[in-house]
Amino acid sequence: MLKSKRAKIATILGAMLVLLAIVVAGCTSGGGSAGTNTNSDLSKKVDDLQKFAAVQQKSINPGLGTIMIEYSTRMAKAWFAAQAGNWDMARYQIDEMKEIQETGEITRPKRAPQLKKFESKYLDTMDKAAEDKDLNKFQAAYTDAIKGCNDCHTQVKSDEFSNYGFIKVQIPKTDPTGGLQNYSGK
Ligand code: HEC
Repeated sequence: MLKSKRAKIATILGAMLVLLAIVVAGCTSGGGSAGTNTNSDLSKKVDDLQKFAAVQQKSINPGLGTIMIEYSTRMAKAWFAAQAGNWDMARYQIDEMKEIQETGEITRPKRAPQLKKFESKYLDTMDKAAEDKDLNKFQAAYTDAIKGCNDCHTQVKSDEFSNYGFIKVQIPKTDPTGGLQNYSGK
């Protein structure tokens, strides 16, 4: 599996925001008025700033809605790559799906267990079929994975929706790049 650059950036960004919160808390509590700030004042400030940083971080990071757009485009590309017998391309798309899903696991930790389960149950099976250059096996794994995508959509709840069963995916009929990409790679 490729290491996720995005996941690393998200972690580093989070750590930076927490550090910034601590530094800002230190500065605002100093200011020459020694003795006026108790330890509990200071820890409350740090707490508030950490909460603020967490909200900021959530709002600037891509949520599942954004991640799913890349996820589904790559899923479609993997299909066309396999049809063209371009197995490296199919494996590349699956790897990139795993990478973008890692970002989702960090930005939306509540969904991480389901995403990880999806990866090991479906993406790894698709990857193995692509590694074996076996189109029948790949198509069977792909069909299963599509069911897995839709299963998760029916299981996930949010504040707004009782589930996301209204999002249905299927084996793609047309190339998402509209013919820009030559899937044979030749
Ligand atoms: C963790 C469970 C989960 C899995 C697994 C999952 N999805 Fe999703 N998907 C979601 C959720 C939740 C949303 C809605 C996100 C939001 O708007 O916050 C979503 C949204 C989508 C959307 C709608 C994007 C849009 O803007 O119209 C598409 C398309 C999609 N998923 C495709 C897929 C495909 C393809 C797979 C499988 C390869 C998949 N999803 C696997 C949870 C999942």
